[in-house]
Amino acid sequence: MQGSSDVGVLGLGPMGENFALNLLSRGFSVSVYNRTPERTRAFLERSGAPEGLRATYSVQEFVSSLSRPRRVFLFVKAGAPVDEVIAQLRPHLEEGDVLIDCGNSHFRDSDRRYQELLGQGVDFIGMGVSGGYEGALRGPSMMAGGSIRGYGSVEGVLREVAARHHGDPCVAYFGPGGSGHLVKTVHNGIEYAMMGAIAEVYGVLRAGLGMGPEDASEVFESWSNGELSSFLVEATYRVLRYRERESEEPLIERVLDVAEQKGTGLWTAQLSLELGVPSPSISEAVHGRFVSAMKGFREKASRFACSAGPSTAESDLLEACRSSLYLTFVSSYLQGSLLLEASSRSLGYGFDVAEAFRVWRAGCIIRSRIVERAYSALLGREAESRTLQLMEEFHRDFREQMVWWADFVAAAARLGVPAPVTSSAMNWYLSVTSRRLTANLVQALRDYFGRHGYQRTDMPGTFTSDWGRG
Ligand SMILES: NC(=O)c1ccc[n+]([C@@H]2O[C@H](COP(=O)([O-])OP(=O)(O)OC[C@H]3O[C@@H](n4cnc5c(N)ncnc54)[C@H](OP(=O)(O)O)[C@@H]3O)[C@@H](O)[C@H]2O)c1
Repeated sequence: MQGSSDVGVLGLGPMGENFALNLLSRGFSVSVYNRTPERTRAFLERSGAPEGLRATYSVQEFVSSLSRPRRVFLFVKAGAPVDEVIAQLRPHLEEGDVLIDCGNSHFRDSDRRYQELLGQGVDFIGMGVSGGYEGALRGPSMMAGGSIRGYGSVEGVLREVAARHHGDPCVAYFGPGGSGHLVKTVHNGIEYAMMGAIAEVYGVLRAGLGMGPEDASEVFESWSNGELSSFLVEATYRVLRYRERESEEPLIERVLDVAEQKGTGLWTAQLSLELGVPSPSISEAVHGRFVSAMKGFREKASRFACSAGPSTAESDLLEACRSSLYLTFVSSYLQGSLLLEASSRSLGYGFDVAEAFRVWRAGCIIRSRIVERAYSALLGREAESRTLQLMEEFHRDFREQMVWWADFVAAAARLGVPAPVTSSAMNWYLSVTSRRLTANLVQALRDYFGRHGYQRTDMPGTFTSDWGRG
């Protein structure tokens, strides 16, 4: 049967196969193709070849099995494989066909691919998909950018398969080129910071309160219904309490303390540096993964470890952990929000950051009560600085809980537990809310040795001084 499937899914890794099943469950007929045919056969077997699923074994067969305009979801490894697959598909595609890259591609690659396919009349969409393989199956959060005409062709499908927050599908179009992948990149950057902060709190619960994984699991569980309610806190208490069947030991104790990365955290940190918009907690989370990978060096250097010894009372430490994690989460969202605002302006995407918070309310890894509250605070307001609006919403929490944040950072340092994400989150907040920083001294020193000039608070112009050197 030629040209009958509603949509196609190319790439049957964990994400692609679950997204295909999601589409099928919503009543769409789906053609699938994977470079390695064994994977396609295995998928057919595992899924029981449900009605509406059509397996194909060549790119040509795949494309010709789709109804027009063809709508193809790519779920292949990010980077060169995406270009390779596009090159294979291109000769078979026509004006109005839509290619949706659903991988974690770099937004600048999506900018380029969008432009390249524009010439052929093929509508390219770069779309970040969050929620892991379970989200792909049950309903992910999706951040799309690229061809507006292409988005129009697939919007109906996307709204059907997306996660829903009180009925509202968590999918949005953010503008041309790589805008969707940019929003997904910053989402992942925030995810890095949140996971880093959770791990730091776990370190303090262990070192400061002598908790093992199961005690710590209970603590995280007790926090998961309050203002810390989030996918990641829930995932944390489940992971910490999981016992391996064979050993009956908490599995976490046997997991090597080396965290890997695929690039999105690094790209967020790079973007932040390029635009001059600080997101230090995200950068620190990336550095944290680099440090974790220095396993051999750390083992040798551990003989030089030192700590100042605890000072905070045990009963206070637990509250310091909870409040600190909460404020670090909020600070990380604020940093991401500021970075998104700047990117939208500087890269010409022109989206409203409120839309990011809207689609992050369900389905994605950083969904949380904080995100829900943030979106409610932005709703119905003029799109001025979204970050300032969010700071207004949360400032009371910062004011009331700041003491715990400072206590946590001090306690972690005294215990010898590194907490770079938490401390940078706190320092970011202290810095960006400072009316007057001590950068005047930095500028004066630059002028002292380099005659770089300085501006004054009491008159306009640029000045230089000999600073008493005669
Ligand atoms: N896993 C997650 O939780 C998650 C969450 C969000 C986004 N993503 C992103 O979604 C995309 C898919 O992720 P995944 O975890 O399902 O799988 P993956 O391991 O990233 O990629 C596997 C798929 O890529 C195909 N592939 C690799 N190189 C290829 C090439 N040169 N030509 C054609 N196909 C090629 C593989 O085909 P073969 O079977 O032939 O090797 C397989 O279908 C990635 O960009 C990933 O970063 C993943």
